[in-house]
Amino acid sequence: DKGGWSSFMAKEISEQPDAIGNTLRGRLVDGHVDIPELTELGEPRLREVDRIIIIACGTASYAGMIGAYAIEQWARVPVQVELSHEFRYRDPVLTDRTMVISVSQSGETMDTLMAVKYAIERGVTTVSVCNTQSATIPRESDAAVYTHAGPEVAVASTKAFVAQITALYLIGLHLGRVRGTLAADAEAEAVRQFETLPEKMAEAVATHEQIAQLAHWMADTRSVLFLGRHVGYPAALEGALKLKEIAYIHAEGFAAGELKHGPIALIDHGQPVFVLVPSPRTSPLMHAKVVSNIQEIRARGARVIAIVEKGDTAVLPYTDDVVRLPLSDALFDPILQVVPLQWFALELSTAKGLDVDQPRNLAKSVTVE
Ligand code: F6R
Repeated sequence: DKGGWSSFMAKEISEQPDAIGNTLRGRLVDGHVDIPELTELGEPRLREVDRIIIIACGTASYAGMIGAYAIEQWARVPVQVELSHEFRYRDPVLTDRTMVISVSQSGETMDTLMAVKYAIERGVTTVSVCNTQSATIPRESDAAVYTHAGPEVAVASTKAFVAQITALYLIGLHLGRVRGTLAADAEAEAVRQFETLPEKMAEAVATHEQIAQLAHWMADTRSVLFLGRHVGYPAALEGALKLKEIAYIHAEGFAAGELKHGPIALIDHGQPVFVLVPSPRTSPLMHAKVVSNIQEIRARGARVIAIVEKGDTAVLPYTDDVVRLPLSDALFDPILQVVPLQWFALELSTAKGLDVDQPRNLAKSVTVE
């Protein structure tokens, strides 16, 4: 049942405020984050972890990249993110103090399952972030942290992605508390951010109409670039993946600072570039850098579509289109910024007359290696 929407993907994008609310439910207790499934692993085991490796594929790997920033910041453990299908083939250094966190919506992705089994054989603690109750990966793992985003039917992942980021942040906050690395004010601020997130998410979902108009004139576009910095970088990668998957348009995401090391040569007159701009209030340094990146590409003819915090006027002289969101904190911004990118892919796919929910050559769950 598409609930009145034209596609499951549209319905699932619109469900994101609830998806986040469901991931958070029961896990914010008296101003703290508490995940009973992690507590069951035993606090000494959580305290002894000296390295975390996040393994996942596709969209889930971008959620992992975003989660890594938060886990390192709050739990002060080095985190690396690796594609599941690369992880096993390089003889990774694993010890009984390593924690492997797998991220998988379906819990059945064969590449990720095989990587989890490889980790288990080496005595590593395995935690599964999964959206599908009793799927194989969470059953095989030492602990399962379910995202509870509800069933995702469209092949392109949307609400599962924001729920995965949310779950990884909760894991970071839980680990930080147990390990004594999380300052009380940082914890209070993160909890406050979470409490307002579903409401802000609803505002991000409401960008649909504006994005539909934007996509309308871009129906013939052959290539789109996405730029972000810090947590905005994996969000840019996700925006590009969505566009490839369902609109069959060549798209690439870049770290904004990397542009001058090569990709800026791609910028030609009229090249559409989405730029994820961090909040100028809470991330002034990053904001200034991104504004200068925008100036660089604008001077070379790019058509800039900036995703900004409401009230950010610094970018206006250099942009063609501005999408305004209720941003606020660097770590939480990409959860909102990705929503207009999801709508953009959906609307371009629709404008090209494609099947939004069932893109060619793709299956919802990839059960072969
Ligand atoms: C993108 C997408 C894929 C999946 C990837 C992992 O929209 O859906 O990139 O994210 O195949 O799938 P799961 O999360 O089920 O392991």
